[in-house]
Amino acid sequence: MTSKKVYLETFGCQMNELDSELVSGQLQGLGYEIVERDTAADIVLYNTCSVREQAENKAWSRIGLISQRKRDGEDIMLGVLGCMAERDGTDLLRRHPEVDLLCGPGELDRLPMLIDNLDRAKASEHARQTAMDDRVALSGNRSRRWSVLSAAENNLELLDLARAFDPDPTAKFAGRSAYVRITRGCNKFCTYCVVPHTRGAEVHRPPNDIIDECRQLASKGVIEITLLGQTVNHYRYTHGTTLSVSGLEIPQVGPGLKAFQFPDKNTSSVGNTTSFADLLAGIHEAVPEIKRLRFVTSYPRDFGDDILDVIAEHPRICPYLHVPAQSGSNRILKLMNRGYTVEQDLEFIDRAVARIPDISIAGDIIVGFPTETEEDFEDTVALLRRVPFKNNFIFKYSERPGTVCKDRFEDDVPLEVKKRRNNLLLAVQSEVSAEVHRKWVGREVDVLVEQVSKRQQKASERSMAGLANGVALTTEGHALPSAPDDSRVKQLSGRTAGDLIVFFDSSDQSSPAEDLIGTIQRVRIDDSSPLNLSGRLCHT
Ligand code: SAH
Ligand code: SF4
Ligand code: F3S
Repeated sequence: MTSKKVYLETFGCQMNELDSELVSGQLQGLGYEIVERDTAADIVLYNTCSVREQAENKAWSRIGLISQRKRDGEDIMLGVLGCMAERDGTDLLRRHPEVDLLCGPGELDRLPMLIDNLDRAKASEHARQTAMDDRVALSGNRSRRWSVLSAAENNLELLDLARAFDPDPTAKFAGRSAYVRITRGCNKFCTYCVVPHTRGAEVHRPPNDIIDECRQLASKGVIEITLLGQTVNHYRYTHGTTLSVSGLEIPQVGPGLKAFQFPDKNTSSVGNTTSFADLLAGIHEAVPEIKRLRFVTSYPRDFGDDILDVIAEHPRICPYLHVPAQSGSNRILKLMNRGYTVEQDLEFIDRAVARIPDISIAGDIIVGFPTETEEDFEDTVALLRRVPFKNNFIFKYSERPGTVCKDRFEDDVPLEVKKRRNNLLLAVQSEVSAEVHRKWVGREVDVLVEQVSKRQQKASERSMAGLANGVALTTEGHALPSAPDDSRVKQLSGRTAGDLIVFFDSSDQSSPAEDLIGTIQRVRIDDSSPLNLSGRLCHT
């Protein structure tokens, strides 16, 4: 046992947030203490993201600061985890000798061993000579070599299964919300993307492991679960083919994009398989305590009617899709190797809206992909105007080492053009978002309360500083609800099942507003803006 203090900071996607939670749990189980500030830590770990250069730059600047402190004589162990460690590999150690250890996302189960190796080497005054193998755990191409996949994946599966089922009540939404992984890695190889290189082959977890994890989280008070995978609708587990020596089902390699050519658009189970629709229905039935079951990210192709039916028919499965289109130009989609056309994307969206009229749709768009012309860009604008997206994350294309794009295309759209297209799309999306939100005015919605609203927190900070409150306006020209005078009444924020953000005031009740955090409340919507809804609590 150790009493060392660990500071762990996370960059990147929800997958990384979950990995960090698992790593923290694992280290705490071994006696390490997780601390809130890097200045209080013996070990500083950064769980990094490589998806865009900007994401890497954030981590580099942190690594630079700790490196400087080490050069100034502080005794800190510095570790780089996650996608950047995997992408950069041992080059990173050569360029940044202050970094002590590297651990890729597919090797996180080995992290305690790496820390331990370094500690031992230090005790014997051989810190700097510690062999690479003792301080580096990367998958390299290994996870794409099928013969050894099961063993490696099974160890990773154990890390997910060994999750400390003890949601922290001080964590977000009072420990009521959690992520559960269903698929690791990705086999799609979009030409711009590092994820298949950093996260390895697409591997599906056995449905029983997933359901058990949901059940355990529910027993600890979790009411919202978000299932994670890069293309969740391609989840598929064939039973009876991959078993461990003890007869248990183990993770299973998924097929590539070409395997999903279903002429009837139906991804439902064939024979002894669990499809994504089966998995959703299975969790819904097995764990009724989960009031909200969501999933990210969906792929615009091969999203069967069976999945839409399961969402429509099960009240606790959220009518929410995060389904990135990436571009509205068929020429660009082809260069991206996305494997669908704009027409296929629209056919899917129309089918989803027809079956589930209240469905919320969010997405991602890349602007300035190599060779993108004004005409291609206009096609993307047209797509945004055509689809009722509640929001889109818009990214400027960032060339990534190791991708097909970098090898094959020049990053030829100038930064100024990327910025202009980015801003134009944000403006278009804002109009579309305003329209989507406006449709909810006058309706009642269930809101999972997340926090005392940031706006109110800011307002009270401003008034403490003796400054006047600025007034924000909605699209209707109304002032957004300002912080009420009565200190017992606070403004809270949360989300609908469709992931729309809602602000409302707590009622003038004797119990503190904070008690509502983590509960589901019925709210009547009075007003809207491009970014959110606002309303008041319905009293029963
Ligand atoms: N699996 C998801 C996306 C995961 S990466 C999917 O296929 O939809 C999250 C988002 O980052 C992507 O949707 C894409 O819009 C963006 N992204 C990925 N690589 C990028 C790059 N090289 N430059 C800019 N944006 C990128
Ligand atoms: Fe990247 Fe494409 Fe896989 Fe998404 S589907 S993670 S964009 S390779
Ligand atoms: Fe980033 Fe890796 Fe997630 S590259 S987006 S942390 S899968």
